[in-house]
This record gives sequence, structure tokens and C-alpha cells, in this order.
Amino acid sequence: MAVKRILSGMRPTGKLHIGHYVGALANWVALQKEYQNFHLIADYHVLTTDLDTSSMPANTVDMVKDWIAAGIDPEKSPVFRQSQVKEHAELYLLFSMLITKERLERNPSLKEQVRDLGLPAVVYGHLGYPVLQAADILLYRADAVPVGEDQSSHVEISREIARKFNCTYGRIFPEPRTKLTRFSRLPGLDGKAKMSKSLGNTVFLSDGPEDIWQAVRKAVTDPQKIYRNDPGRPDICTIFTYHSVFNTDETPAIRRDCESGVLGCVDCKKRCAAKIAEYFAPHREKRSSLSDAMVMDILRDGEARARREAAETMEMVHDTMKLG
Ligand code: TRP
Repeated sequence: MAVKRILSGMRPTGKLHIGHYVGALANWVALQKEYQNFHLIADYHVLTTDLDTSSMPANTVDMVKDWIAAGIDPEKSPVFRQSQVKEHAELYLLFSMLITKERLERNPSLKEQVRDLGLPAVVYGHLGYPVLQAADILLYRADAVPVGEDQSSHVEISREIARKFNCTYGRIFPEPRTKLTRFSRLPGLDGKAKMSKSLGNTVFLSDGPEDIWQAVRKAVTDPQKIYRNDPGRPDICTIFTYHSVFNTDETPAIRRDCESGVLGCVDCKKRCAAKIAEYFAPHREKRSSLSDAMVMDILRDGEARARREAAETMEMVHDTMKLG
């Protein structure tokens, strides 16, 4: 049987943080062994909510450096920008005939973004966000999409579009499944549910030991643990969550010593910061060995391979639809 395919994607928003690593990247790297992966840089998708493209090139390079440093192997898995493979736009147009505007207006992610960003109105392309995402996935005939919970409504729409195409014209697309990550989200330093650049509660993958310590020392812990010897509640503490991800060996001892009041928050944070720094030391080293020119070479190569794949799919689409 043919190797199963995975399409993973992110919008290029710049340097990635440890939440991206835990929630997505680590999983992408692990899946490379078993699947043929395609790694998409969703630059068109950025435009749905932000027309300012001035930082797009730098943000793209920064993000790809983090992908490669984390272990994405660009020889095995093409890394490419959506905007450089024209077939995305074509398939998006054809798919836009297969779904109603009412269905897209019901998309919960759209409603959330409108609320969170305080958008006064929705542009046409923003309504079509999931249609473009369906084109991203199905252009490579991907069977699975490794994403967090927040993207499952988009993958559901991709399945609906695949089904509609297949029954209208002929079966050429798989119905892609969501492949949820084990820890879909890491809490932010401020204790908020999600680590996110716009909330300013992140530790970047490129941060060195001192930056990490400066970020971690300000993190919110159990508000009832005021003095060093007060008993703490690890289960509501962000720092404990980080220990349980990056410092698994010491986690049981940290739970015990926090609960008994032997371990104070400052010492606990110092150990946490040191462990995060140690965990990502190879990442930082690899990242700093990558130049912008190397990233551009990786993209050019990935884009040539992605174009070949995309052209093959579009040929099947044209044949099946009797276009041309
Ligand atoms: N919408 C995704 C996000 O915000 C990015 C994305 C675009 C994507 N196209 C994709 C993710 C295709 C998976 C598959 O994270």
C-alpha cells in the first residue's frame, strides 16, 4: 500500500515558542518516520486578517528555522510557501463552488477570530479561510492533518468538501482525518490557557538560558503559596505543568516537595528554567547554524517538489471534471 500522507501547516507569524513545539512541531517530527509529510507555510492565510505584508519574509524565515532546528528533515518532507504553488489558488476557486456561504458563516473559528481581533466586518477571503485550507490539504491528497483541537472545525469542512467533490465528479480525494496532538496546548507564563505571542506569555524556542530565566521567574504560580514553606497545589500551577513536560524525571519529587512546603516557588522556577534551557539547547545550536540563504534554498527545493505533486492532482481534477 502507498505511504500515507500528512499535510501540516502554520501561518508564518515569526519565531516559534515552546507551546508550538509541544502542541505541533514535536508531533510533525515524530510523524516523518511513518508518513510522507508536506509542510506548508500558509502565507495567503495571513492575509485573511492582516493586509500588512512587510514582515512576511522575515517571519517566514524565522519560522522555517525553528521547523528545521526541531528536526523537520526538508530532504524527506518538502517545506514550501502556499503562495509559490499556484495550484492552491485554482483548487480554492473550484472548491468555493462546493460549499455554501451559510455553512462557512457557521464556522466557529471565524466567529472566534472576529471577536478576538475585534474585526468590524468579515472580508470575502476570511469567510473562505477553510476552503483555502481544504485546497491546501487535498492538493497533496493528504490522509491526515496533525493539528490542535482549535483546527478541527477546519478539517471537518475539508472532509465535507472532499465528499462533495467525490460524489459530484468522481472519487479522487481522501477524506482527511484530524490527527490530534497529545498535549494540544501548553499554558502561558501568565497562567492563561494558551501560550501565544499576542498575549506576550511565551518562551521562544530561540531563547537562551538567561532569557528563559527572566521569562520563567515572572510566571504565575499557585496564588495561595505566598511564603516559601506554604504548601502548594501543583495541579493548578503552570510551572508544574512545564516540569511535567520538560523535566519528567524530577516531576514526582517536585510534586511532593511543593505540596509539603519544602520547595519554594523561586527554587522551583530556577530548576524549571534550567531544564527548559537544557531541553532546547540542541535546538538553539542547530537554529543558529542555519542562515537565511540556507532557508531560501530549502524553500526553493520544497516548492519545486510541491509544484510537481500539485500539478499531478490538478491533472486528475481536470480530467474528472472534464475541464479542458
Ligand atoms: N489554519 C492553520 C492555523 O492557523 C494553518 C493552516 C493553513 C493549515 N492551511 C493548513 C493547517 C492546512 C493544517 C493544514 O494554524
